[in-house]
Amino acid sequence: MTKERWGSGLGFVLAAAGSAVGLGNLWGFAYRASQGGGGAFVLLYLVIVFLVCLPLLVAEMALGRSTRKSPLRAPAEIAGKSWGLLGWLFLVVSVGILSYYVVLMGYTGTTLLNALLGQLPVDKSAATDYFPSISTGSVSLIGQLLSIALTGIVVAAGVRGGIERLTRLGVPLLFFMLICLAIWAVFQPNAHEGYAFLFGWDAKQLLDPSTIANAFKQAFFSVGTGIGAILAYSAYLSRKSSIPGEALAVVTMDTAVGLLAGCVTFPLVAILGLGDLVGAGTVGTLFSTLPHGLALPSLGIAGKIVSVTFFSLVYIAAITSSISLLEVPVSSLIDNLGWNRNKAVLCSVALVALLGIPSAINVNFLVKVDSVMNTLLIASGLILSVLMGWVVPKRLRADLTEVSIGNSQVAGLLWTLRWISVPTISLGFCVVAEETFRNIFMQ
Ligand code: TRP
Repeated sequence: MTKERWGSGLGFVLAAAGSAVGLGNLWGFAYRASQGGGGAFVLLYLVIVFLVCLPLLVAEMALGRSTRKSPLRAPAEIAGKSWGLLGWLFLVVSVGILSYYVVLMGYTGTTLLNALLGQLPVDKSAATDYFPSISTGSVSLIGQLLSIALTGIVVAAGVRGGIERLTRLGVPLLFFMLICLAIWAVFQPNAHEGYAFLFGWDAKQLLDPSTIANAFKQAFFSVGTGIGAILAYSAYLSRKSSIPGEALAVVTMDTAVGLLAGCVTFPLVAILGLGDLVGAGTVGTLFSTLPHGLALPSLGIAGKIVSVTFFSLVYIAAITSSISLLEVPVSSLIDNLGWNRNKAVLCSVALVALLGIPSAINVNFLVKVDSVMNTLLIASGLILSVLMGWVVPKRLRADLTEVSIGNSQVAGLLWTLRWISVPTISLGFCVVAEETFRNIFMQ
């Protein structure tokens, strides 16, 4: 595979942050938090992110950097042929996630277009009809196809050219806008009800299987670790960078964006009186609240400017994530079959587009695929943490100590990966798998 390197250390962090920050933080956080759990959901999510996903992200980066292979080949390269299956799991899950991720991008793109045309829902009844209208039929299908095509174009442009530039501007701007919106929300009447929903404490929820499952899914999806997306980026990472520091920066940024998005969405639900629409928890939570909130007539032209800028930024954040998912099959095809980048992109794009069609025309299908893919994502993360923590800990230690990070730090990290991450993900996997099984087959 190409031995191209990141333009700068910052370039890698930005690209990795771009991969993490995406629709998971906005759409996903709103969707899962709307299903209940309140403060317990948020706490569990935070604990899983920092205690489980962070060490796993470090391990995934180290696997990429020390093998310099694609996700498909890295596991076998480091631990022998029988681990080759893990590479295939990476491939299946990344293609599976991307297949509906681009559908969600389509919803975002449609909303951006509506914002430009001044056609966002201005009253409650329009807000109720809004999500169903963008998530079905040809609108959704066109959005999906354009989004996967765009993702393909960026990935075909190559590592440095395509990825770094988009993220450098997009992520900080999105962050800034979310802060402004969150501050705006604080001063609106009824906003406190939103905070009460999102942060309200009920210790019983800590043991509620659906809250636990949602926290696991949200943490893994949002950080985006476990299926080789960051591994693919790390294969281009220079030996000099300090992986744990970079991983911590990425995870912190990602979590901050998720929480901020929650601090915009849920106050808005209360401010706009959309409780009954979002009440029982729905995939459309984000799209039922934000477009309407930013189109309030009282906001005037400011609302229009904010809505256009905001949805452009969300779309950019989504592209910097979708390209990391597409990089998994693309780099694997290049690495394994010796294809050139364009051919690999074209084939991957065609496959993803085809697989995404059922999700594009039917939201319920999308919800199910999301459930199954998140379960597989966690399974894959579990196997990856076993591989790096228990099977080849020496390689992990060697890769990490090569750069100026202390032995005790590396030892602590390895210990956490072995004794905290592996048991916790095992537990989480059981809860999530049981939930998914029930949702898919018992309803
Ligand atoms: N983390 C991204 C988001 O929040 C999505 C994503 C990118 C992802 N790469 C991933 C999810 C790898 C799972 C695995 O939108």
